[in-house]
Order: sequence, then structure tokens, then C-alpha cells
Amino acid sequence: MGPEGQLLATALLMALAVVMSDSLHADEIYVSGRGGGEGSGGGGGGGDEEVDAASAARGPYFDASASKNVTALVGKTAYLNCRIRNLGNRTVSWVRHRDIHLLTVGRYTYTSDQRFQSIHSPQTEDWMLQIRYPQHRDSGLYECQVSTTPPIGHAMYLSVVVEPVTLIIGEPDMYIYKGSTINLTCVVKHSPEPPPAIYWTHNSEEINYDSPRGGVSVITEKGDVTTSYLLIQRANTPDSGKYSCNPSNANVKSVVVHVLNGEHPAAMQHGGQLRLQNPAGLFLFSVVVVLLGS
Ligand SMILES: *[C@@H]1O[C@H](CO)[C@@H](O)[C@H](O)[C@H]1NC(C)=O
Ligand SMILES: *[C@@H]1O[C@H](CO)[C@@H](O)[C@H](O)[C@H]1NC(C)=O
Ligand SMILES: *[C@@H]1O[C@H](CO)[C@@H](O)[C@H](O)[C@H]1NC(C)=O
Repeated sequence: MGPEGQLLATALLMALAVVMSDSLHADEIYVSGRGGGEGSGGGGGGGDEEVDAASAARGPYFDASASKNVTALVGKTAYLNCRIRNLGNRTVSWVRHRDIHLLTVGRYTYTSDQRFQSIHSPQTEDWMLQIRYPQHRDSGLYECQVSTTPPIGHAMYLSVVVEPVTLIIGEPDMYIYKGSTINLTCVVKHSPEPPPAIYWTHNSEEINYDSPRGGVSVITEKGDVTTSYLLIQRANTPDSGKYSCNPSNANVKSVVVHVLNGEHPAAMQHGGQLRLQNPAGLFLFSVVVVLLGS
């Protein structure tokens, strides 16, 4: 549109504004005058009023910083947020990419799957897609769309994961010979991202790796499965007690360590460290017995 055309359009719009001033704001008219208002548009120029008009003329756009990928837990209600500025009177819809399925239009749920619902509080610019009882298969791209011509959309990824699990190998009880090395292995699985930190406690006190006791160290290997090894050399009686592994984004898990002071339980055969829990050999043995017995 040349400068003359623009002038003409503006004049027409101003005339319209006078006619319709009861129901419409001037900036809305200006937006519709720019053919839906998306894009940056050309032209422009001076005047304070035109600054407001120009920001409105930009039309609806997404605030990406408030419309991000989401990781949710299986079974726990998930929310995808879409923040739209300058929405005006347009309608917001949510579409699932996997099957191009229209889920919601405005505040109405369009799909027969009633787990999906659109949530919007009038005073906000947020349009949230609520997904109740999410399952792993709900993972994928979702797009919020605005009914401009042509429509604009912003897609985000939902990952539905099972709750992170923390375990300590050998829990709930470990028996260690005095003088040998206590090696506690804590494993964190199904965490959407590796735990930023894992700290260990002994009888509820955070373990100090610089303590005068010495010989205490921790090695943490981060990954899809994160493993933290707590090593305590030259185990002694005061080292007995409850040890807990505290990942910053998963449940705490504990193990009770018994430092054996010259005692020799029948189950203990060789090696400084014995794990009485899950004795694989014993399990195999009982399977054989059952087979023989049938
Ligand atoms: C939005 O408002 C404009 C006028 O500002 C009108 O022309 C248009 O029909 C309205 N759109 C919807 C979807 O209500
Ligand atoms: C969102 O997830 C998609 C798909 O996994 C990925 O391609 C994209 O980079 C992610 N965006 C952000 C901002 O993390
Ligand atoms: C500690 O035990 C784990 C197995 O649970 C083993 O992989 C690791 O090598 C051990 N570390 C030391 C220093 O013995």
C-alpha cells in the first residue's frame, strides 16, 4: 500500500471510528484496517498515537517465554500454557499434532476426550490446556492457534513421564565388616532430567566430605539414569546407622548400615560387604526346589 492508499484507509477508518465509537476502540479498527493485523507491516511514522497503534497493529503474538515445553507425570494433571498478547477478540484453539485433532475452541472442549479442557481467566493473557490423567501416549506436540487470517500458531512439546524412582542397592539393610569400605549406590531413574544435585545424609545429618574422619567421598554419574556412589573407607562402629540419598528432584531413599564388629552371621560368607537383600542365588535355589517338587 502506497502512502496515498494508507492515508485513504486511515481516513476511512477514522470515519468508521466516528460511526462505531460506541462499540469499538480506535486501535481495534486500526488493526482490522491492516488486514487482520499480523506481521510487522510496512509504513509507519511519527506521532505518539501511532506508537500505540503500531503495537496494536502488530496483532496477536505469542509470549514464548511463558509458553514452553512441559514435562508432566503420568496420572497427574498437566497444563500447557499459551500466552498471547494483543489477542483482541480472536479465538484460541488447541490442536494435537499427532492426529491434527482439534481439542478445544475458546473455552469449549471440542474433542470427545473430556480429559482436555481449556482454561482462561479473563484478566490474563494465558490460555491453558489442561490434560487430566495424562498417559505416556499423550506425549507429543500441541499447538495453540489464534483465529487470525491466516491463523497463527505456537507449538509446544508435552512429555509425560513416570515418576522418578530413587533406589539404593542393598536397601533396606546392609551389613559391612569393620575395616572394609562401605559402598552405597543410589540410582535415580525416570527423572525428566538428571537431578541437579544429590546429597547424602548419615543419621539425618548432611555428610561432610572434609570432616576429620576422612576417607569419605562421593562420585555422581549423571545421565538418563543417574548414579551416586558414597564411599566410606575403613568402616567403624560409629559409621553404622541410617544413610539417605536425597536427589533434588526425586524421592529420598534410605538404607541402614550395620558395621559388624567381629560378629559372623550365618549368612555372611566372604567379601567385606554383604547384601542380604535380594540374594539372587537363594532365589534360583528356591525355583529349583519348586521345580523338583512338582
Ligand atoms: C473482531 O472484531 C472486529 C472488529 O474489531 C470484527 O470485525 C470481527 O468480526 C471480530 N471477530 C470476531 C471473531 O468476533
Ligand atoms: C521443545 O521440544 C521440542 C521437541 O522435543 C524441541 O525440538 C524444542 O527444541 C523444545 N523447545 C524448547 C524451548 O526447549
Ligand atoms: C561400588 O559398588 C558399585 C556397584 O553397586 C560398583 O559398580 C562400584 O565399582 C563400587 N565402587 C567401588 C569403589 O568399589
